[in-house]
Amino acid sequence: MSHIAVLTSGGDSPGMNTAVMAIARTADMLGMSLIGIDRGYNGLLGKNPDKDFIKLSLETALDIADLAGTQLRTARCLEFKNLEVQQRAAQLLRERDVRGVIVIGGDGSFKGAQALCRQGIPCIGIPGTIDNDLPYTSMTLGFDTAVNVCVDAVRSIRATSRSHDRPHVVEVMGRHCGDIALETATATGAEIVLCPEAKRWHIEEVANRLQRHIDRGDYRSTIVVAEGAWDWMAPFDVSAYLNAHGVSVFPGEEINAHRMAQVLSCMCHMPDGSSPEARHTVIGYTQRGARPTARDAAFAFEAGVRAVDLLNRGIGNRVIGRKAGRVFDEDIDKALRARRPFNRVMYNVINAL
Ligand code: ADP
Ligand code: F6P
Repeated sequence: MSHIAVLTSGGDSPGMNTAVMAIARTADMLGMSLIGIDRGYNGLLGKNPDKDFIKLSLETALDIADLAGTQLRTARCLEFKNLEVQQRAAQLLRERDVRGVIVIGGDGSFKGAQALCRQGIPCIGIPGTIDNDLPYTSMTLGFDTAVNVCVDAVRSIRATSRSHDRPHVVEVMGRHCGDIALETATATGAEIVLCPEAKRWHIEEVANRLQRHIDRGDYRSTIVVAEGAWDWMAPFDVSAYLNAHGVSVFPGEEINAHRMAQVLSCMCHMPDGSSPEARHTVIGYTQRGARPTARDAAFAFEAGVRAVDLLNRGIGNRVIGRKAGRVFDEDIDKALRARRPFNRVMYNVINAL
């Protein structure tokens, strides 16, 4: 019986387990045996292959399908960028009769898969990242789930913000990609959104916008910020500004959701001249650890089936994607060269005031 392997790598994303389940079912149907590699590329370093190569039975895989996280565990394995390490990993896979590897992860993980392909191991990539930062596909596993977590949170925040007439700064994930922030803002009617792809904001500009909303009678504006946008703010001495306004802060503080809320409180004013009581929430890892939505799970399943089918037909060096409701596969090198579009129209509409 021939073996194929699957690993999950990079940040975990809702839907990874569903994809593994679909891979196990398809492999079983086609008479292939499936090995799960423990903790991403770490499991290919050859340190303890008997432990790191886990034989996945169909029963085990069926049990994990709708669980959050990744049962195979994941890791960031920087050693895998090294050519010799990649060569040894390919050798290990050959010794263990693995005829192909399915890699579920983001663009970094796909580069690892690309490297294995160059060493003669056919690999198929399944896009697993909440950030949605893979340009060749309009959907990645976990993005829909992460957005739904953020939308639920922002709706709750807006309800209490309205009760108290308070603006609120909400930080969502997305180190280089503002899609979670943008989609959350469009789905909730948030008043301001900051993304790393867009222009460099000065905090005074954010305050001016917030003030315009207050002047129009909207006292509960939500400012959604992608975490990567903090690095993309125009320089501003938060500590000096807050200390000068009676908020005691250590020198050299960086801007973040908490500090932005404090600065906005100082820079803006309510109709009676008082300061708005701006608050902040960092949604954080609840976005990554949520159970997959039906949309993510369904894509995960179809992607898993397609990945095994490709390997079974002797095809490697491909990645799976979804566009216009259809699952497709594409050359891995071409996919990694694609440029990412940013929805500037939505961004401008939200920030129009
Ligand atoms: P993601 O896959 O979510 O983008 P990372 O960028 O952290 O996450 O990458 C995950 C892992 O993929 C890395 O820890 C490393 O093991 C592997 N990887 C990343 N870049 C490369 C590369 N250029 N060559 C080989 N492996 C890589
Ligand atoms: O997986 C993507 C992501 O969730 C980013 O949005 C975030 O910046 C990053 O991973 C966090 O990574 P870590 O788990 O290393 O803190």
